[in-house]
Amino acid sequence: MNYNEILKNGENFLRKNNIKNSYLDAELILTKVVNRKREEILLNTHKKLENRDIQKFKNYLLRRKYKEPIAYILGFKYFWKHKFLTNKSVLIPRPDTELIIEESLNCLPYNNSKKILDIGTGSGCIIISLMKERPKCKATGIDISLKALNVAKSNAKLHQLENKINFINIDIDKYNSYNYDLIISNPPYINNIDFKRLDDDIKIHEPKVALSGGCDGFRDIRKVIKKSSKLLKINGKLILEIGHKQKFKSIKILNENGFYINKISRDLSGKDRCIISTKT
Ligand SMILES: C[S@@+](CC[C@H](N)C(=O)[O-])C[C@H]1O[C@@H](n2cnc3c(N)ncnc32)[C@H](O)[C@@H]1O
Repeated sequence: MNYNEILKNGENFLRKNNIKNSYLDAELILTKVVNRKREEILLNTHKKLENRDIQKFKNYLLRRKYKEPIAYILGFKYFWKHKFLTNKSVLIPRPDTELIIEESLNCLPYNNSKKILDIGTGSGCIIISLMKERPKCKATGIDISLKALNVAKSNAKLHQLENKINFINIDIDKYNSYNYDLIISNPPYINNIDFKRLDDDIKIHEPKVALSGGCDGFRDIRKVIKKSSKLLKINGKLILEIGHKQKFKSIKILNENGFYINKISRDLSGKDRCIISTKT
């Protein structure tokens, strides 16, 4: 079987199993199996596959059939300007979260060495992207999940930042290190009702600890805001990702905890997604 034939078979199989983007997914899976770029595959459509690669392709297709996200099958995802290793222990980095990077860069002059904390670092995509842009800063990433932190450490190593970011396996409730200039966080914020309605790709395969924000979706948003009001310096900034229906309540919690709201930014689909605030 050649590349062209296996791609057609793969696309048909995924489409029949109701997988969206069936052709793209089949193509991405083939890039992994033959370890070639998409352009190379398109230029070599008549190249034959070895039997062992055909078997690998089928195994990956089966994983996709059962809704495993393509980022877990491939083992990586691009975020901001870089490639991040991903596995089922970490949330797959989302384009909307790049808002946190944009807004953080506005608060961090290039040559200053500010102290930054990333709460719920997961794959480390936010803090690593920031440190690539602002290498003089001092960075810490914390996460309750040890497995997630191991992925973050591998990503830091991949980007030559293993000695520049301090990763700590701790619950935000127990973290007590002070004087941060900037705290960033994309906490779990999905409420119990919305959680049940998530696509299977997310609900079955991504870690619940990274998604579920408890009954009302605010359990971890509250924790992050309360804790940040203690850990930040006066005039320090908190940049927080929220669910698109969580703006008003989040602002209330921020105000109650001594924060001034600087800005709400919207994601690519125009939804409120990120709050920039200052500890007064
Ligand atoms: C929505 S994910 C964000 C991951 C990554 N920062 C990103 O934006 O792709 C939330 C992360 O918070 C972590 N987390 C959940 N509860 C926590 C807690 N109480 N203390 C510290 N980290 C927590 C989860 O393990 C998960 O990695």
